[in-house]
Amino acid sequence: MRNQPEIEIKNRNQTIRVNPAFSLLNNFLSQGIPIQTSCGGKAQCGRCRCRILEGAAHLSPVRPAEIARLGGALIEAGWRLSCQSHALRRVVLELPELTAPLD
Ligand code: FES
Repeated sequence: MRNQPEIEIKNRNQTIRVNPAFSLLNNFLSQGIPIQTSCGGKAQCGRCRCRILEGAAHLSPVRPAEIARLGGALIEAGWRLSCQSHALRRVVLELPELTAPLD
């Protein structure tokens, strides 16, 4: 579909198209992509994190809430909160497994 950026979830060998009007988290949930979340997208639990492998500049800018929750080191390492991120163009990322300890 036009204007629907492609998201490659590399560690799951899966590629989806997303609506840039909605966060990555909401796109993942609406398409049945398994992802951790316990705060409902409020940038509080940190469980929705994803690590950007390619196309970091194709995402909406890092929000202060992401820095507050993840910390500068994880942001520098490419981690974002999917509940705070919108994809504007193609991105390659990886998602932690549902069993990964993320608290
Ligand atoms: S869903 Fe909790 S921080 Fe994103």
